[in-house]
Amino acid sequence: MNFKDEYQKRVEYIESILRKYLPKQEGYQKIIMEAMEYSLMAGGKRLRPMLMWESFCLFNGEGEIIEPFMAAIEMIHTYSLVHDDLPAMDNDEYRRGRKTTHVVYGEDMGILAGDALLNYAFETACRAFDIAPENSRRIGEALKILSGKAGIYGMIGGQVVDVKESGHRLTGDMLDFIYRLKTSALIESSMMTGAVLAGAGAEEISTMETIARRIGLAFQIQDDILDVTSTTEVLGKPVHSDEKNEKTTYVTWKGLDASKEEVARMTDEAVRELRVIREDGGFLEELLKSLVYREK
Ligand code: IPE
Ligand code: IPE
Ligand code: MG
Ligand code: MG
Ligand code: MG
Repeated sequence: MNFKDEYQKRVEYIESILRKYLPKQEGYQKIIMEAMEYSLMAGGKRLRPMLMWESFCLFNGEGEIIEPFMAAIEMIHTYSLVHDDLPAMDNDEYRRGRKTTHVVYGEDMGILAGDALLNYAFETACRAFDIAPENSRRIGEALKILSGKAGIYGMIGGQVVDVKESGHRLTGDMLDFIYRLKTSALIESSMMTGAVLAGAGAEEISTMETIARRIGLAFQIQDDILDVTSTTEVLGKPVHSDEKNEKTTYVTWKGLDASKEEVARMTDEAVRELRVIREDGGFLEELLKSLVYREK
């Protein structure tokens, strides 16, 4: 099977899990379940649950314990996008090829849909206790990572500085801080929880964090590049959003060519570290490399 088919097979597996864990659309609050499904099932690369799954497999993880966590990380990521697009933040009207959640459901429901996805992510992840009660310790450890990496020392912290510093020229240090938190943190969470739930040791988990940190940085720089070089049709979200919001990005800081070099360099380093864990990095290695040249 070639890479594209392997990738597609995994996307289908992930989406079947998402469908399984989405809440039933019922009750007086039904509209929020609809908005959750609208944003979550709109497509998207499903990178974070895929990285979690591959990390779980890398350490010979077995069983369904991983599935609620895969759903949870995609819910947290999707909530971060729903809020990122709000008028008070990046004010964007397209996401994953459709109108953003707040445009379709209104700003009030957009905010609540994000809140709902965030909270439901943890309700969902906790279902791992029912699936594998014998692994409660691992699940507890994974929940600690999942919650921390999404919070003020993780993704939210990065978004705070990103929003607060819009319109200002930033130093490289500050930009790296923002990217490590707003983007790397959820990728670190994905790869670390996958390893934890498989039973990896502390040193291995720390290596996964390092790999994910580099991949996250490369991923965000590539996102900045595409914001300048791509089209809305290909990306499924507006281009030139960063310019509109007067963001300092790697592209405005270092220029396009140096940014591209940085993406390749960070990815090379990550792949080298992965090979320390496993000589033949398999699909995970291919996946990391594919992100360098991704078009959306
Ligand atoms: C977008 O993430 C936000 C960033 C961290 C750059 P993705 O590019 O993974 O978005 P989807 O999930 O494919 O829509
Ligand atoms: C956002 O970065 C990262 C998040 C934590 C949501 P961007 O604002 O560049 O993401 P896009 O380009 O809107 O997807
Ligand atoms: Mg943003
Ligand atoms: Mg944005
Ligand atoms: Mg962007």
